[in-house]
Amino acid sequence: MDFLEHDLKTLLSTLPEPFLPSETKTLLLQITSATHFLHSHWILHRDLKTSNLLLNNRGQIKIADFGMARYYGDPPPPNLTTLVTTLWYRAPELLLGAKTYGAEIDMWSIGCIFAELLANSPLLQGANEVSQLSKIFSLLGVPTNQTWPGFRSLPHARTLKLPAHSPPSSLRTKFPFLTTHGAALLTSLLSLNPASRPDAAAVLAHPYFKEDPRPKREEMFPTFPSKAGLEKKRRVRTPDAPKRGEEGGLGNEIVDFSGLFGEGSGSVEGGAGFALKMG
Ligand SMILES: Nc1ncnc2c1ncn2[C@@H]1O[C@H](COP(=O)(O)OP(=O)(O)OP(=O)(O)O)[C@@H](O)[C@H]1O
Ligand SMILES: [Mg+2]
Repeated sequence: MDFLEHDLKTLLSTLPEPFLPSETKTLLLQITSATHFLHSHWILHRDLKTSNLLLNNRGQIKIADFGMARYYGDPPPPNLTTLVTTLWYRAPELLLGAKTYGAEIDMWSIGCIFAELLANSPLLQGANEVSQLSKIFSLLGVPTNQTWPGFRSLPHARTLKLPAHSPPSSLRTKFPFLTTHGAALLTSLLSLNPASRPDAAAVLAHPYFKEDPRPKREEMFPTFPSKAGLEKKRRVRTPDAPKRGEEGGLGNEIVDFSGLFGEGSGSVEGGAGFALKMG
């Protein structure tokens, strides 16, 4: 593989301002078209995140780090490992223990990356699996049988206690400068129900990329000083990719999210917006 001057995570941490909307579109289009290539060759990446996206000084992105990648098929192979994708970019079905999953898990990660490009900061920074789910539900609302039929049969969803009512997603208010098309794309990528997420081809055809400002042409992309020297000083701590043989998942404890929106039992040990009851 060619040498690429930057990884997107280090680059974002050194930028005083987020990328321009036109630049964000170029980056998102390239990430999605590379992912489309992988998926059309039946490869799941399973660890898409900004530190695995490399950018050269000619405005070109390449996906790196195939340490978690694997072939898949249709129907998806049974008994896939659940412990994939770095926590902050991990789809809710993986957190809930799904053993059968597909390209939708990469599309969730792309949604997280899109939000990170817009805000210049990772969207969902959970400290562990329970807090990751809690952050997802706080931002996007909780799943229901209508929005995600069958989610209750996922291994860790059976013992999950959810609030009876959840406020609607607050994603739109978090990104007030995004256009209607942009917000619709982000919201669809971050659908709790994997079946509601667009595939890579649908993202590439999305009207968000056809409205002004148009994606910046690669050759017009700004160049940035090399990260050499900056990296050590400015390195931001983010979780590592899961390791082979690591214990993962929510285990068998009862996870109680019923107080997530300030209602519910009150008898459980409180946490940062979520509570954990040991079964
Ligand atoms: N072709 C390349 N050109 C420039 N830098 C690269 C290239 N490939 C990898 N790197 C750098 O090395 C880092 C780690 O590479 P990679 O993600 O493939 O390995 P890893 O073992 O998974 O490490 P990590 O746990 O940090 O993700 C990348 O984030 C990037 O900064
Ligand atoms: Mg890596």
